[in-house]
Amino acid sequence: MTRADPFTAGRIAGTTDNSRIITNTAAPDALEVALTDDVLVVHGGTPLEGRIRVRGAKNLVSKAMVAALLGDSPSRLFDVPRIRDVEVVRGLLGLHGVKVTDGAETGELVFDPANVESASTDQINVHAGSSRIPILFCGPLLHRLGHAFIPDLGGCHIGPRPIDFHLQALREFGATVDKTPEGLHLSAPNGLHGTKFALPYPSVGATEQVLLTAVMAEGVTELRNAAVEPEIIDLICILQKMGAIIKVHTDRVIEIQGVPKLHGYTHRPIPDRIEAASWAAAALATRGDVEVLGAQQADMMTFLNIFRSVGGEYEVTDARPPKLGDPGQEGGIRFWHPGGELNAVALETDVHPGFMTDWQQPLVVALTQARGLSIVHETVYEQRLGYTEALNTMGANIQVYRDCLGGTPCRFGRRNFKHSAVIAGPSKLHAADLVIPDLRAGFSHLIAALAAEGTSRVYGVDLINRGYEDFEAKLADLGAHVERP
Ligand code: EPZ
Repeated sequence: MTRADPFTAGRIAGTTDNSRIITNTAAPDALEVALTDDVLVVHGGTPLEGRIRVRGAKNLVSKAMVAALLGDSPSRLFDVPRIRDVEVVRGLLGLHGVKVTDGAETGELVFDPANVESASTDQINVHAGSSRIPILFCGPLLHRLGHAFIPDLGGCHIGPRPIDFHLQALREFGATVDKTPEGLHLSAPNGLHGTKFALPYPSVGATEQVLLTAVMAEGVTELRNAAVEPEIIDLICILQKMGAIIKVHTDRVIEIQGVPKLHGYTHRPIPDRIEAASWAAAALATRGDVEVLGAQQADMMTFLNIFRSVGGEYEVTDARPPKLGDPGQEGGIRFWHPGGELNAVALETDVHPGFMTDWQQPLVVALTQARGLSIVHETVYEQRLGYTEALNTMGANIQVYRDCLGGTPCRFGRRNFKHSAVIAGPSKLHAADLVIPDLRAGFSHLIAALAAEGTSRVYGVDLINRGYEDFEAKLADLGAHVERP
């Protein structure tokens, strides 16, 4: 059987003898991706050591690509990682007449939106279920074409992930939304108009939806309870470069003055702080030493505080531009396990500037190696702890609870969701056969396999290509003993 190309395969269907495979009941359809040829054999127990580089943040780059639709001239984006989410957005832009070409620099993409056009629902539906980014096409397509069709969304199975805030916001701007079995049909017969709107929760995607719609809506928009993640601020920088007028106030209020037209941008995105933290967690869990070039301290402060509390060491290297007689230096952060025992910690995931939900799963693997009881209260997603089952089968001791084990106000405590975890450690992890349930949990499974003694088989690893560029090559660079059978 030939291996599917990770950048074109999408969800792989197939069967396998899964009797020995540890599945995740939080994501039962993960078995769909468990193909015999989509497996990585991991010989664990070797510390990860070396240096890798992270490029533009997945959760900014994909949105920056959508923003290019709003310009009346070409945009240029640097440091775009080669990951599946980028391919999905590239495909959707292409279907809508945006010419996407590779620039001269590795990772540079150029978007020419001169001929934006409608695409057929059949063509668009090819991308159904592959990513959540298509929902952000609503505002830009309504501005450019007066109508939009959005396929069924995909993304990770970490809770129901509704889009009610998005649709409510679009209706506030004057859009009509028609939900059909094939997807969403939107139109704006009277144009889009600025509005005053408060989000029920500071949703990243809904804030981006409002930004991408308000910048060219007529009049002023005031968004309250907005998300202010660094990726959102970087998107605002891009929109500002394009000609938008956006004020970010200190109290989660964003004010946008609509303008009639925007032009293209040139932008180098912020580096991927989720990927950087994932490699940091891998260094800690395997008692290793990994320098992550590109990692930026300012965007990772909350992670760095927890990393230090757990007992990990890090050192920040500031970037220095080259000048005569000095080759300069690339900035980054080196993360390492200093030896001895790690400390248990209590942490709660939260919106920025809190501890990111996407940092949670990789770090929990390291917490299985800490002495004492660590507590994790997940307040962003209601079902993001299912992956701990697989860690328990590898020897970890993790209990999940429906109660809120923390002080951060949370929407899940009274709704019967197992969203808190107590991790008792240290536990000796042993090898197992695993099926990857979603992107970040998948990376945590990989870390667990690398930290465990013995040989594990990790099925469905292709899912990791959604958000981690060249992760297999990076593993090799860090001395991991992994192989494709
Ligand atoms: C973004 O998802 C990221 N994805 C996620 O990263 C990240 O975990 C999340 O923000 C939080 O930081 C991308 O940027 C592509 P939200 P998004 O809207 O925008 C609820 C990864 O692994 N909600 O901030 O979809 C929702 O259910 C991914 O890289 C509604 O109830 O997240 C969740 O509980 C996973 N109704 C909470 O808000 C809505 O209409 C936060 O979701 C929208 C959201």
